[in-house]
Amino acid sequence: MKRARRGRSGRPLHRTDARSDGREALVAEVAAEAIEVDGADRPILLADDTDGALEAALDRPIHRWDRMARGDRPATAWPVFAAEGDAALRLPKAKAALDMALHALASVLAPGAALWLYGANDEGIRSVGKRLDPLFTEADTVLIKRRCRVWRALRTEAPPRAPLAAWRSETRIALPGGPTPWIEYPGVFAAGRFDPATAALVEAMAPVAPGARVLDFGCGAGALAAALRQRAPEARLHLLDADAVAIEAARENVPGADVHLGDGWRAAPDVRVDRVVSNPPIHRGKGEDFGALAALIAEAPGHLKAGGLLELVVQSQVPVRAWLDDRFARVEAVFDDGRFTVWRAR
Ligand SMILES: C[S@@+](CC[C@H](N)C(=O)[O-])C[C@H]1O[C@@H](n2cnc3c(N)ncnc32)[C@H](O)[C@@H]1O
Repeated sequence: MKRARRGRSGRPLHRTDARSDGREALVAEVAAEAIEVDGADRPILLADDTDGALEAALDRPIHRWDRMARGDRPATAWPVFAAEGDAALRLPKAKAALDMALHALASVLAPGAALWLYGANDEGIRSVGKRLDPLFTEADTVLIKRRCRVWRALRTEAPPRAPLAAWRSETRIALPGGPTPWIEYPGVFAAGRFDPATAALVEAMAPVAPGARVLDFGCGAGALAAALRQRAPEARLHLLDADAVAIEAARENVPGADVHLGDGWRAAPDVRVDRVVSNPPIHRGKGEDFGALAALIAEAPGHLKAGGLLELVVQSQVPVRAWLDDRFARVEAVFDDGRFTVWRAR
């Protein structure tokens, strides 16, 4: 287990959630056991092995495709090379994201190549076999262990829906300024809805001065930034997210903003900003995980100009007050309806 980082007060600054780390290690261990049974030394393309847990457990030549950036590992919205060999996919959280990932992998795998699809029972892995058809055939469960399951199937010749642009859909989103044309892709946060927590933050936000530089940390498809632009058209916007597909949507939904793809502050703009706003991630996969949130707070002062503000919205039970107090001189809850709290820190 990782040690919690400590703040100025000596209190643990955050809990990188042992449950989500433990889950990834467990499903990867089970997947590796199933894959190694094949005994092949063919290369394998690991998809969405975000923590690198399967890579660490396998003894095969490895290629990677990560939709989410983690650490210094880069992310791409679509696999960028033709894979020789097989592939393994960590079950994505959303069904629509699973479907798109299967098509993405099918677009780089040769007919006859093996695909392993792995995950935990409580993530819905039991029932996903039927989603493999018609891109993959002979789908079979090859290992059930420790509440995890591994499917194996073979690539057919069925044509995939590719490239990424084939998954782009145009819709409208109900921003505070009215219905707004919106670009959506599978698996991106809020699926074209204006999230109620994001709405609470926009409503409670302090006025933004013309020309102010604002960073939306964890921008998703850009809903928060788009709403902010309606209120402050002169703001200079920076949008940051670890999800390469979200960044593709954000680029179109908030034209002219600077977009930054990467894991948290590693991807930050190289200028200090007047304000950081965020509806931050508090989950990783199925598990709660406050690691990215705590890092957001801990390092925000180093990215803000003197007098700059951090404004974020979290579910009211998320214990951010102590983390904010550790890093900022003035901390206030500017909105709280028992469900969401909007925090302002300077
Ligand atoms: C709760 S959503 C908010 C999305 C958007 N701001 C909105 O309000 O609709 C949080 C976002 O954080 C992103 N995220 C998760 N982990 C991250 C990390 N380590 N670094 C940057 N972004 C991350 C997710 O991909 C997701 O888009």
